[in-house]
Parts: sequence; structure tokens; C-alpha cells
Amino acid sequence: MTASRILPGDSPQALAEAVAALARGDLLGLPTETVYGLAADACNDAAVAKIFARKGRPTGHPLIVHVADAAAAARFAAQVPDAAQRLMATTWPGPLTVILPRREGVATASAGGLSTVGLRCPSHPVAQALLRACAQQCIHGLAAPSANAFGRISPTRAVHVRSEFPDGLLILDGGDCDVGIESAIVDCTRGLPVLLRPGLWDAAHIRALSGVVLASAGEAAAMNQVAPATSGTLASHYAPRARLRLLQPHVLVERLAAQAAQTHGPRLGLWLPASAREALPQPLPHGWVWRAQAATPAQAAHDLFTTLRELDDLGCDEIWVLEPGADPAWAGVRDRLQRAAA
Ligand code: TXA
Ligand code: MG
Repeated sequence: MTASRILPGDSPQALAEAVAALARGDLLGLPTETVYGLAADACNDAAVAKIFARKGRPTGHPLIVHVADAAAAARFAAQVPDAAQRLMATTWPGPLTVILPRREGVATASAGGLSTVGLRCPSHPVAQALLRACAQQCIHGLAAPSANAFGRISPTRAVHVRSEFPDGLLILDGGDCDVGIESAIVDCTRGLPVLLRPGLWDAAHIRALSGVVLASAGEAAAMNQVAPATSGTLASHYAPRARLRLLQPHVLVERLAAQAAQTHGPRLGLWLPASAREALPQPLPHGWVWRAQAATPAQAAHDLFTTLRELDDLGCDEIWVLEPGADPAWAGVRDRLQRAAA
């Protein structure tokens, strides 16, 4: 098999090559504003099967179908409830996925056989250009999970995708992903809309953008609206090779001091705020690496997977991260960190 190739996403020739690959039933490394995806024609079940096989992902775990706009989404949805219409009108293109009842016989393998389908309209200019070029070849949706082996760190750069899948993959380079963590997912199929996965946006932010009130986890549980057991909702996910430990602020100083006193301790990667830098031994013990954890949730989300991957690649045995507080604006980052640590 040939080595995977990275092509510039803003080149018309590269775009044409990408559309041709998808039309043949091949996979594509696709940049989006959240994370890179591993894409296939959502209506080609054989191509979609290749996604599950290459990721090592269970075939019952549904994939998100990416579309150019709300009109294309209507091809996949059996109906679009009011709340979903408002979400799409106010947040698309952008990092929000809606789950809708699926049109029968459409994108069956992508949806993992469920009667619902997840739809997302990415804002990344390369993804938009590709989706529009695909539509001209009658490909109206691209199924794409994050472009990483099942359970591992999501890729935020083209080179990350190549390191996950070194062979036979065409990858469009769209630069560094702006958002850095996966889209927020809102289930619009069961009564009140429910937030299944926070992204850059939490429930309050989505309400401010769209006017749509999302059910809290407690309300959803009371209605027995338990999320299906799918990849992003598994307790353990997004994991680096190194053991990830989430530290509460009140134990940080004491743990660091105890660790520094060990002569043969693990190689430590630290992702801690600049304010915690002072609590670290000076100079850092041999084998320790520190990276600054940003003070705003948007910047921390942007840096999260890139930093975990970098610390992993540096050979850290353990990665220690300060657990963000309960502020809802940090929900997306906290969610990914908790799963990566599980
Ligand atoms: O930002 C994103 O959403 C990225 C980029 C590539 O668009 N994609 C992504 O895909 O994160 P993935 O496969 O890593 O996560 C998709 C999650 C599934 O694990 C599942 O939880 C949920 O979306 N999902 C998709 N379709 C669903 C459905 N029909 N019902 C319930 N959950 C669904
Ligand atoms: Mg994923």
C-alpha cells in the first residue's frame, strides 16, 4: 500500500482528487473547524464499512453525516422538528450536530442501523468547498467520525491524521483546527431537545444563540432519555498512551512536591495554568515537561488534544492536568478530560 498523502485543501486540483476518491468509494482525511474527520460517501454502505474497519470502531456506533447546508440535511431526515430548525438556522455552519429521525433507506450503515441520524454542517472553508463539489457529483453527505483509531486522541492537524493512518489515505490539509474539540450534539428526536455531548458550546450558550432550551441531564434522565451507548458517550475515550491524571487544585502543590522528591519517578507531562508554574520545582526535575493550560475555555479546547498528543509523543509516562472547575463554559473540556482519564 502507498503512503498516505497530505494535499493542500485550498488547491482546486486537490479538491477534485478528493471528490474523485470519495466517488470511487475511498476514504478521505477531512479538515473541519472542530477536529479532522475520516470521511466517506454517507450513502455508500461499502465505503462507510471501510471507516468502521480502519478505525476499529464497533459498527453499531453511529457516525455523523456532514452536509453543505440545511437543504442537504433534509435529504437524510424524515422530519425536522421546530427546535432542530431553529438550531440549524442559528448555528449552522458551525460546531453543532443535531440528531433527527432518519429517512428510511438512507445512510443506513452511517447511522449504525439506528432509526435516527446525526447531521452537522461544518464551517471550515475546505469542508464547505468539498461538500459543495461533492453535491455536484450527487454525493450529498459525508459520514465522518474523528480521524483517529477507536478510543484515541482526536486529530487537530493533518499530520496527526497521517500518523493515525500512515497508509493509503488522501488527506486534505486545512491547517490547525480552530475549535479543537468535537461538536456539541443535540438529540431532537425525543420530546425535549437534549444535549448528548457538550462541545465548544454548552447548553446555556446554545440557548443564547438559538433560543432553544435544552433539557438538563436530570430532566432527560427523568424522561428516561438515556443516550445510546455510542463512542463519544463511553466513559473511557479520547485517551493518550500515557496515563492521564486529573488533579484537583487543592492537592496539586502537595502531589507535585511528593513526585519531585522521588528519584526514579515517571516521566511527567504537565498541562497546568501559568499560575501553577510557580508551584513547580525550579528547575523542573529531569524528564518533566510543562505546557501552559490556557485560562479561557475556548483556548483550552483549542490546545487540548494537540497538547495531549505532543506530551504522548515526547514519551511521558503520565500526564497531569489541572481539573477545570464546575463553570458550565468549561463543560466540553472537562468532559473530554474526564473520559481521557477514565
Ligand atoms: O466535531 C465532530 O463532531 C467531529 C467532526 C469530524 O465532525 N466528529 C465526531 O465524530 O466527533 P465521532 O464519531 O468521533 O463522534 C460522533 C458521535 C458518536 O459517538 C455518537 O455519540 C453521536 O455522535 N451520534 C452520531 N449519530 C448519532 C445518532 N443517530 N444517535 C445518537 N448519537 C449519535
Ligand atoms: Mg471520536
